[in-house]
Amino acid sequence: MGAEMQLIDLHPEPADMRRLVLEGMARQPRQLPAWLLYDAEGSRLFEEICEQPEYGLTRTEMALLEARAPELAAALGSGVLVEFGAGNARKVGPLLQALRPPAYVALDISADHLGPACQELQDRHPLVPVLGICCDYSALPQLPAHPLLSGQRRLGFYPGSSIGNFSPDEAQRLLRQLGQLLGPSSQLLIGIDQPKAVERLEAAYNDAAGISAAFARNLLVRLNRDLAGHFNPEAFAYSARWQPEHNRIAMALVSRQDQSVQLAGEIWNFAAGEPLITEYSVKYGPKEFTALAESSGWQPLGRWSDPAGDLSLHLLVTADS
Ligand code: AVI
Repeated sequence: MGAEMQLIDLHPEPADMRRLVLEGMARQPRQLPAWLLYDAEGSRLFEEICEQPEYGLTRTEMALLEARAPELAAALGSGVLVEFGAGNARKVGPLLQALRPPAYVALDISADHLGPACQELQDRHPLVPVLGICCDYSALPQLPAHPLLSGQRRLGFYPGSSIGNFSPDEAQRLLRQLGQLLGPSSQLLIGIDQPKAVERLEAAYNDAAGISAAFARNLLVRLNRDLAGHFNPEAFAYSARWQPEHNRIAMALVSRQDQSVQLAGEIWNFAAGEPLITEYSVKYGPKEFTALAESSGWQPLGRWSDPAGDLSLHLLVTADS
């Protein structure tokens, strides 16, 4: 008989959305927290983005994981595999197959996604016990005491280049936090999208089918619903531009005209052409990412790339090891 999937709900505190939105609206330029993009419709649209021909990141990372799974498993060694922000938990399949860890632990903030994703994975890998933990892993002091985790070395997995959606300072804090959750002698396998030709990067974040634009505009729909907003999403043009001075794509909704919008009980004026930043996506080359990791308590152990050099998987080990 196979293992039975288990779930722990740590009831992640709903973030203080109103306060964070008001803070973001007071910034210059205005910038809202990227996690706000991922309500149910935003999560669905993000999955659609991953299938667009211009957005190769997900396909490239999956192909790299499939091609290099035996090598990656050998480098990782033994331990419980812990995935951060597991989402639909589809990327971990090849690693589970090659690594056959004593357990797989998926951390994600969305309880709606986590349960079904873990169950699907458990059905496909009946010999690896699967534990889902619904939590905000960026704010968790430690992983819960659970028999599947006790006394085991921990191997972290953080795919998707999601670290790029944090500012470099926030990314440094997050990498330290992952080290704290994984504990001594742990390792972290992390996917990092590479800098590439500006045309390719801008196209990846502004696909011809308009899914990236719909994903960004859905943020205004969410604000209308959850914070008594009165945005007309069509009164904002979507833009995704490479900012070479920051090595990042800046995604923004740009006001098409002078307008006043009610939100959270206040009136906000937008000048024509004024951007509301919805998200940044920072791209780190190997040297820059290694420096970031080293400044966050990790040492580089290995790096694997696809043949075109579009994406790297970095293997890190805690500096204490
Ligand atoms: C989740 N994250 C890594 C995506 C990225 O590539 O920065 C988010 C995204 N936003 C629009 N397209 C993709």
